[in-house]
Amino acid sequence: MDLKLRMRRLRANEKIRSMVRENHLHPEDFIYPLFIAPGENYRKEVSSMPGVFQLSIDEAVKEAREVYELGIPAVILFGIPEHKDEVACGAYADDGIVQRAIRAIKKELSELYVITDVCLCEYTSHGHCGIVRGGEVINDETLTLLAKTAVSHAKAGADMVAPSDMMDGRVQAIREALDANGYSHIPIMAYSAKYASAFYGPFREAAESAPQFGDRRSYQMDPANGNEALREVLLDIEEGADIVMVKPALSYLDIVWRVKQEFGYPVCVYNVSGEYSLVKAAARNGWVEEKRIVLEILTSMKRAGADLIISYHAKDVVKWLKEENKC
Ligand code: PBG
Repeated sequence: MDLKLRMRRLRANEKIRSMVRENHLHPEDFIYPLFIAPGENYRKEVSSMPGVFQLSIDEAVKEAREVYELGIPAVILFGIPEHKDEVACGAYADDGIVQRAIRAIKKELSELYVITDVCLCEYTSHGHCGIVRGGEVINDETLTLLAKTAVSHAKAGADMVAPSDMMDGRVQAIREALDANGYSHIPIMAYSAKYASAFYGPFREAAESAPQFGDRRSYQMDPANGNEALREVLLDIEEGADIVMVKPALSYLDIVWRVKQEFGYPVCVYNVSGEYSLVKAAARNGWVEEKRIVLEILTSMKRAGADLIISYHAKDVVKWLKEENKC
């Protein structure tokens, strides 16, 4: 055959493959989630998420140190409060579980970047992400509580806040409250295109935040919609978001691509609990090779345009990269 171009020339061996490789994973791409529980010396594995634990604050500090020493720059904190109520008091209390965890982590590891998830669902007795009246999630009243929550996180020492509730106007409300309280330097990473997804199932066990009635479809996005995601992202940018997020990640890579192409903003993806559990379950059965499949999945997120990846696999990935001298 008289072929001028042979694509296989650049695939001949790992040396040349690595020289022309377009996308790479780095430790600094990752944000590691931590679930903070009450008590002391407490470390309970989430049954549907092997390798992921609910941690008391002292244990969370240990875990945060491991994350930091691996070279992962950031954690994102979720709280499991002792008490839940109708108005999510635990979300914005100065001595709330997340506020105390921020102080403890920052005291030991001032260089670790601490992001907080800003939402009410872990703190409300009904498990919805906002104030509920007559079976409805009330948007505008919820904004006041979300803003209070974000300010209390900043006050405790959080480096960045990440609203995940999907109420309309929450980025603006949080931006205004942060600015009014002297936190204009604290960035907002908005869960902008957050879908009403079955992939959050295992998280709700981890964070004990399943809604007690109904579902989240009146505020999270319909998985069938793509154009709407761009409108959500545009709104969050206009309201002051510094980083925008697409969540879940794997089934929404088209959205990641479109958001990156359209806005050029820093894009974070959330490689959510269900994505993690599917891989773990299949790997445990010996049906897939865990390391290869995880690296392939996460690299596809970078290829789609993600700058940052929140992932429960982050510690494993960085260990693998180190083994291969890739970082
Ligand atoms: C809180 C929140 C959820 C997740 C992150 N923040 C759950 C939900 O919206 O039900 C899911 C994360 C995951 O599945 O790993 N609203």
